[in-house]
Amino acid sequence: MKSVWRNSRNWRRLGGVVNRGETIEQSPASKASALGSSRTIKDGGSWVPWTESKALSRALSLLDARSVVPLSDRGHVSSSLQHRRGYGSAPGDSQVCRDKRFAELKDADIVHFRQILGDKGVTVDSDDLEWANTDWMHKYHGHSQLLLRPQTTQQVSEILQYCHAGRLAVTPQGGNTGLVGGSVPVFDEVILNLGGMNKILSFDEASGTLVCEAGCILESLDNYLKSRGHIMPLDLGAKGSCQIGGNVSTNAGGLRLLRYGSLHGNVLGLEVVLADGTILDLLGTLRKDNTGYDLKQIFIGAEGTLGVVTKVSILTPPKLASVNVAFLACEDYVSCQKTFTEAKQQLGEILSAFEFLDRHSLELVLKHHDGTRDPLPDSKESFYLVVETTGSNESHDKEKLEEFLQSAMEKELIKDGAVAQDITQADSFWKVREGIAEATIKAGAVYKYDLSLPLKDLYNLVEDMRERLSDSATVIGYGHMGDGNLHLNIIAPKYDDKLVAQIEPYVYEQTAAVKGSVSAEHGLGFMKPKAIYYSKPPAAVQVMKGFKDLMDPHGILNPYKVLPSLRESSAISQGL
Ligand code: FAD
Ligand code: MLT
Ligand code: ZN
Repeated sequence: MKSVWRNSRNWRRLGGVVNRGETIEQSPASKASALGSSRTIKDGGSWVPWTESKALSRALSLLDARSVVPLSDRGHVSSSLQHRRGYGSAPGDSQVCRDKRFAELKDADIVHFRQILGDKGVTVDSDDLEWANTDWMHKYHGHSQLLLRPQTTQQVSEILQYCHAGRLAVTPQGGNTGLVGGSVPVFDEVILNLGGMNKILSFDEASGTLVCEAGCILESLDNYLKSRGHIMPLDLGAKGSCQIGGNVSTNAGGLRLLRYGSLHGNVLGLEVVLADGTILDLLGTLRKDNTGYDLKQIFIGAEGTLGVVTKVSILTPPKLASVNVAFLACEDYVSCQKTFTEAKQQLGEILSAFEFLDRHSLELVLKHHDGTRDPLPDSKESFYLVVETTGSNESHDKEKLEEFLQSAMEKELIKDGAVAQDITQADSFWKVREGIAEATIKAGAVYKYDLSLPLKDLYNLVEDMRERLSDSATVIGYGHMGDGNLHLNIIAPKYDDKLVAQIEPYVYEQTAAVKGSVSAEHGLGFMKPKAIYYSKPPAAVQVMKGFKDLMDPHGILNPYKVLPSLRESSAISQGL
């Protein structure tokens, strides 16, 4: 063990400080990196090269309303765009059809939106639309002709009121880093991006309560808080691009959930605009409030299907001075699991993250993610752990961590390891873990499964899939071990229905067999509405549909996402 360690203060990316009420700068660099480079995408059941799709999107894009050709002369939504296939579904699955209840966009609509938002808030430019139509993986591609960027809650309300009355479907969008196709339109839905609503409204140092607009970028909020002695209760690899409204709407988990719990506990209040434009002010800052039903909870994790989150009130924990990060190597999965049990017992309250990756993930990230290096170049073990402690007493934390590592070594649970001795080293350990997602999309066509599983079964599915698929794909396993959350990623040279048929429904069936969840933290999005039945009984899905009908009677908010269509539900309930 290279037992080199030193207390590493403030080692997470430090950035600009934002004053109360100030606008947070969106980082164009992080947006660019969130875009990635040219890849193959799928459209309407057949794979088309990215360049062709660009042309398609360009052809469909509206010209600027001030330019020569009006929308009315450009025809209706092309009939080839009336049907789309769900990704990751087995061959033979029914296609998703454009819901005929929804109106097609007209010139008059654009004129109206310009009246609400001014020219700057209305984008019909094909390049900007291309970013907003394409998800982070470049796997899901919508065909929206209009991107709206409101600056105030009132504007969101007026937009939704108009869309509700005119039956225009809407896709709420944050940083567009979602991994299940939820953040981009399926057909021609209007994109409502919250990025322009990025003000911090208040911060109370005594209670740690932050109130901000939904478009604030997670990393900017974290930087703002750090300079005031606090941190955000969540942290994820997409922090440079994702927005707090998107985090709330996906109930994002990430790297700190083990320590600070989920957003269901940390979000104190929300302001939400309902589908008909009603502004629901639930923006409380109280820790305790048992007056009636806790309505805000229904929007946390609703993936933009029940309302548009415009403001968030969130409890932020204090920033602790002593942070230590260890990168450890284990021979097998059982050793990882035992090390976790040992860590909980020995590190107790200072344990703040317990992440794992297999050797395949490590090799992938070293090959495809620029600037990563192997923290343990001499060890060739099958599993790696990133363990972080945060506490307030440097010598106490150091002693605890050393005792834990010593005991884990003596019990032969860990074979090798290194403890970061400075901020740079700690960052480089985290970069390996956080860089896996980006490495996968550079490596090929990726199928992502985000599963909650009992800890003892967590890795079985990875081994099963490796055997099942043999050489046809690279199978990797990593994730938030401390939360029982496996990320099973299957990477192939191209998207392929035959491959999907070998993966699904097997992965979902195995997950259901051990009472796991088919979506631990990413949500269902467009990828897996039908898979909901593997984790929730039909009666529960029915209640969800009741909520949806009540909150959004015309179904305009993020259609085709999260809940299966009526037709699919009845086929499933009849056992077809
Ligand atoms: P988007 O992707 O834009 O949208 C996500 C969903 O929320 C969509 O359904 C959208 O319609 C809806 N939505 C967005 N904003 C609003 C709003 N204001 N009101 C209503 N609905 C809205 N996720 C995790 O849980 N844990 C991780 O560790 C994690 N790591 C990631 C690492 C990388 C590199 C990447 C690319 C993604 C990662 N994700 C992770 C997934 C993703 O970042 C999160 O789901 C994130 O919370 C999405 O935020 P966003 O602002 O990008 O939302
Ligand atoms: C992660 O934990 O790295 C994220 O959830 C992204 C992913 O699953 O790849
Ligand atoms: Zn994750």
